[in-house]
Amino acid sequence: MLDLWYKDAVIYCLDVEIYMDGNGDGIGDFVGLVDRLDYIAGLGVNCLWLMPFYPTPNRDNGYDITDYYNVDPRLGTLGDFVEFTRQAEQRGLRVIVDLVVNHTSTDHPWFQAACKDKGSKYRDYYVWADEKPENADEGIIFPGYQDSTWTYQEEAGAYYFHRFYDHQADLNVANPKVREEIYKVMGFWLQMGVSGFRVDAVPFLIELEGIKDTAEAKDPLLFLKEIRNFLSWRRGDAIVLAEVNEPMDKIADYFGDGDRMQLLFSFMGNQTLTLAIAREEAAPLINGLKAQPHPPEIGQWAYFVRNHDELTLDKLSDEEQDEVLQRFNQNKEDVWIFDRGIRRRFPPLLDNDPRRIRLTYSLMLTLPGTPVLFYGEEIGMGDDLSLEARDALRTPMQWSAQKNGGFSTASPDELVRSVIDEGPYGYQQLNVIAQRRDSESLLNWMERAIRMRKECPEFGWGSWEIIDTDNPAVFAHRCQWKDGTVIAIHNLSREACVVTLKLKDDEATCLTDLLEDQPYEAVQQGSHEIQLEGYGYRWFRVGGIHL
Ligand code: NOJ
Repeated sequence: MLDLWYKDAVIYCLDVEIYMDGNGDGIGDFVGLVDRLDYIAGLGVNCLWLMPFYPTPNRDNGYDITDYYNVDPRLGTLGDFVEFTRQAEQRGLRVIVDLVVNHTSTDHPWFQAACKDKGSKYRDYYVWADEKPENADEGIIFPGYQDSTWTYQEEAGAYYFHRFYDHQADLNVANPKVREEIYKVMGFWLQMGVSGFRVDAVPFLIELEGIKDTAEAKDPLLFLKEIRNFLSWRRGDAIVLAEVNEPMDKIADYFGDGDRMQLLFSFMGNQTLTLAIAREEAAPLINGLKAQPHPPEIGQWAYFVRNHDELTLDKLSDEEQDEVLQRFNQNKEDVWIFDRGIRRRFPPLLDNDPRRIRLTYSLMLTLPGTPVLFYGEEIGMGDDLSLEARDALRTPMQWSAQKNGGFSTASPDELVRSVIDEGPYGYQQLNVIAQRRDSESLLNWMERAIRMRKECPEFGWGSWEIIDTDNPAVFAHRCQWKDGTVIAIHNLSREACVVTLKLKDDEATCLTDLLEDQPYEAVQQGSHEIQLEGYGYRWFRVGGIHL
């Protein structure tokens, strides 16, 4: 089944609004994005995930939609979107878009109609209660920013359910009409040329809170299968990449037998990677990977270092969370949000140490799954803690040392969000052009690493196992697929070490270093002794390279 393209894709996530401004109004747009497609293609990624770009009052960065069938006029037109997908396709880039159907904005015409008239057909699109349910204070997603999950709506004369902010009213997905609307939305964007969806908040999409006992409500997981059937019927190679941060005993349900979601973000991998990097010890990551169920044959884990949200650490114990903060030298009051995560990008957690940054991304790119990069990670962008909540890490892309980091020609006070303009992460130093000129830059490293990753399909397709080493700081694993075997070793510690790898006999003769970071010594038969500098890593192909 070689055509499961997502198995060895490299995905790049961006928010059009802050990527590139094409018309000088201070807001990123599709015209600007089209202009940067050669840059994106040059990185070597082959799938773009666009965060929500639909009409929105923008009270949750576009995750509050008022029209599923359009482009926010600040970002362009549907015509611009189609031109964008055409141009992306020409460069071999697939596009997936955010599907946010757990809720609509309360400004959505459906919700407005539902509030105005109890008899409206839209009334049952949402979830209502006459009295405030007793559990209204439970399951709040944005503590500190959200008081309740049920809010009274004057005009409607009832309480409506909202898992997230009070301006994001949950859709009643037990209503078959709502499901039809969702399929129509999916069908629309598939027709527009997208290769699938990143589906927002999937566990909440299928939850039954406040929903009356209907046939649909009895088997919520069936909805995932319906979504998948619809998707695959309309476009055989389309994917769903689902946001599911659930306990390990529940998560396999989201893959099903390969008949539900194809890709799930690995929140377990992300959090245990974070702890492993913080502690300079491989064990948390090894345990995290082992705790995850094996995806079915057509399923896949999507690995990431950071995304547009807080760095959620909810799968770690309270002590481990504190340990991460302490080892990364973070002041909890400044960075901790929603009682569960850190509102920062990764380089500031690593004190901008280039060796440790490369180590982290080298790990991400070699984990057995599909890597997902967040825009700006390729140049090691920082964050701005003076911005509200998660906006700290959603600053405009830094293209050059020109005004506004080359993001926009507007005056700085017209920008949709300010560009980082001071310190080591300021656009004056840290930008794409500067890194282009510097052969040692993170950008050049990332491009090479992504290219090498694509030359090693074993990481995405293969079976994998941990290789025991004699050093607790070293994470070593082997991925095998067809006739190929690759081995990656990562020294999470600042201390240099020599690690003994005891390999299978038929692997013992020759290892080829694919992406060296220091001269590599030849090894002895049967057992390889590999010197790793502090935060050093190696990718090996067993045997020679076939190029
Ligand atoms: C998950 C998204 O990643 C996040 O940014 C958003 O606030 C919530 N879902 C609500 O849509």
